[in-house]
Formats: sequence, structure tokens, C-alpha cells
Amino acid sequence: MINFLNKAPFIEDTNLNDILKICQTPFYLYSQDAIVQKVEKTKKILGNNIFFSVKSNSNQAILKLMQSLDLGADVVSIGELKRSLSAGFDPNKIIFEGVGKSQEDLLYAIQNKIRLINTESLEEIKLLQILANEKNNKINIGVRLNPNIDGDTISKISTGKKTDKFGIEIDDIHSIIDLVKSSPNLNLISISCHIGSQISKIAVYKNTFKEMKKAADKFVDAGIRIKHVDLGGGFHVQYQDEDPNFLIEDVKKELDICFSDSNYDLSFEPGRYLIAEAGILITSIINLKQNGGINYLIVDAGMNTLVRPAMYNAYHKIKSINNKSQKQFTYSVAGPICESSDIFQKNVKLPEQSIGDILVIEDVGAYGKVMSSNYNTRLLPSEILVNRDSFAIIYSSDRIEELIDKDIIPSWL
Ligand SMILES: Cc1ncc(COP(=O)(O)O)c(C=O)c1O
Repeated sequence: MINFLNKAPFIEDTNLNDILKICQTPFYLYSQDAIVQKVEKTKKILGNNIFFSVKSNSNQAILKLMQSLDLGADVVSIGELKRSLSAGFDPNKIIFEGVGKSQEDLLYAIQNKIRLINTESLEEIKLLQILANEKNNKINIGVRLNPNIDGDTISKISTGKKTDKFGIEIDDIHSIIDLVKSSPNLNLISISCHIGSQISKIAVYKNTFKEMKKAADKFVDAGIRIKHVDLGGGFHVQYQDEDPNFLIEDVKKELDICFSDSNYDLSFEPGRYLIAEAGILITSIINLKQNGGINYLIVDAGMNTLVRPAMYNAYHKIKSINNKSQKQFTYSVAGPICESSDIFQKNVKLPEQSIGDILVIEDVGAYGKVMSSNYNTRLLPSEILVNRDSFAIIYSSDRIEELIDKDIIPSWL
């Protein structure tokens, strides 16, 4: 995402050095153009029914941008629902899912007349039936099915196997049908699934589409008018050169084959695919040390800033913006957090680095800032959006004193 012009690092037409003058590291930086390009490409191939997965990046500015690009929002909590409404999404373009929605959450969603509540258990359908009866209102609902498909991705981001906690087992379709038929105030109009993230194998998409088509037809045969079939997110992003070269065009081919003889309104809920590559994390080197023959670069971003490497062993390319030496050195890039797992990457080849130099951690636009924490009483990182030769701080890091002030010491201490 960074281009060098006369040795100066640029994001779009903005010089990173200008941003560094006013914003303290570590911070996330997003390219608006990169987001727009990816969204437009995805819409061109998959159509306009794209619901951005807000969990991947929920900054209000990013949501506003996604909304302005005519995407819907896919939310998994009441907080994300409120964020999406506040960013200007039409309630009719918001889908609410998640395994743990409280009665209060459901009531809020009903009151705001969102497009769909995607139920994830028979108990949740029963609760909605009670709420709809109390309000004497008809409610549109969807069901998230668990198609029992192994996404062939890492277990921590797999969601579509029978034993995963998500969705209603596909074998329970008959119970869903019976329940919905005995609930005059519930309109079941949609089925959905999401079998996991980072799905690269086209065979997995093919199986999923087949199962979902079969499931939709079963509902229709039983007299339930399913209009929408939502096929989830999970499109693969190439974080390292050895990763599979996933093509969204191949997904579209399978989609066309599988749903050619049907009129379902098909939709998707991608997060990572739309925004991961549009974000970088800028961090400063605060210390250099050698332990056991390893050259450590200690940076001011840690697992509290970007948890993916520590949590999922995720790989993110790390680049330097100085080219002080032709010679490459081998470094381990580590954060300042008191945990051995606070290492971004081992054996990174970089030109010689010094204290104060800037490193760039790539492809962090999704599941980056949203998963950051105050662990070790460290601040959440700021976020910056670049638009050609302009940039804006879209999240301003707070102060340590504000964090401390949130704690309340009881009177007996
Ligand atoms: C229900 C649901 N939909 C969509 C997504 C988006 O996934 P991804 O960011 O991999 O596209 C997720 C994330 O896991 C999810 O839980």
C-alpha cells in the first residue's frame, strides 16, 4: 500500500511523514481508495447484495464509507447494530446475527425495523414468537443454518461444522418448519450460513452452495416462502506469498452453476476480503536487543494493538520505510507487552534498523483495531483514513489518565 516517491513513503498522495508529524505511533492507517476499489470489484462480480461484516472493522468513518458505497451491514451485537444505525445505514439494510442475542437486543432490533434478525437457535425463534405476539406485530426473520461443512481453515475461525456453536443444525429443518408454521407472527423469509473465515478452497464454496440450495428448496416445498439466501462471508485474503491465490470470480462461477434454476435473492457478508488489505499498522522501534543470538526489534505496537499473530499465529508482512543499508539483517519483531507470545514475526529480513525507525505491518484493516485492548494499561491505537492528498484521524487514542479514572475504588479501601 506504500509507494515511494523520491524515497518518501506515500499512501495514495499523502506523505506518511506528514502524518507522523501529528500522530503518535502506533496507529492504524487505511486507504480509502483501496477500500473503494475492493468494494466496487466485489459488487461487480457478486452483485449489489453485499452486507459488510461490521465485526471486521467498526469505525464510524469506515461504516459511513461502506454505507455510501451502497453496502448493507451485517452485525453480531447490539453495539454493532447501534454503530451501524449511527453511521447512517438504512435499517432495511441491516442483518443482525449472533449466537447470544438477549431479549433486550431483539426488542431493540424489532423497534428499529431492521431488515432481518437471523436466529441461531430454536429457543431464539420461540422467544421471537413471544415478542412478536406481545407486540401483535409481524416480524421478518431468517435462520442461520449450520450446514456441517468443514471450511478447511484454522479451527479458531471455523464456524460451520456440526460441533461449532453457530447456527441451527441443518438436520433440524423440520423442527424449524413446524415452529415457524405455528407462529403466525413470524415470517421466515431468509436462510443464511457462514462456515468460517479465510476459506480458499472452491470445493468448500461449492458444497456450501449446494447444501444451502437444498435447504432453501426444502423450506419452499413445505410452504415457507424463502426469498433470501445469504451465503456468509469468509473470502480468503492472501497474507503471504505462499497463500493460495483465491479468486472471487471462481466463487461466482459456482454460484451461477448452483443457483441457475432458482429465483432466490442471493447475498454475502464479507468483512476481511473488503478491508484487510486496505489497512496498515505503523509502529516505531523503541528498543533493540540481542537475546540468545536473536536480534529483537522491540516496537511500540503490541499484541494489545494487533492480537492476530498472538491469537491465531497469523502472518502479517512487515516492511521498513528506511533503506539505510543494502544489506539485509534478520530480526524478530516483538511488542512491549509482558507476554512471550507478544511477537509479530520471527526471522524478518530488513535493512539495518535503529531506535526511532518506523515499521509497517501490512494487511491489518480487518480484525485489527477492533480486537485491540488496553492490556498492560496501554492505549488503544489511533486510526487514520487517507483520501488522496488528505487524511483524517478517525479514532483518537485516549489518555492513560482516562483509563485509570474509569476504575472505582470502593469506600472501604
Ligand atoms: C456471521 C458472520 N458473517 C460474516 C463474517 C465475516 O467473515 P470474514 O471477515 O471472514 O469475511 C463473520 C466473521 O467471522 C461472521 O461471523
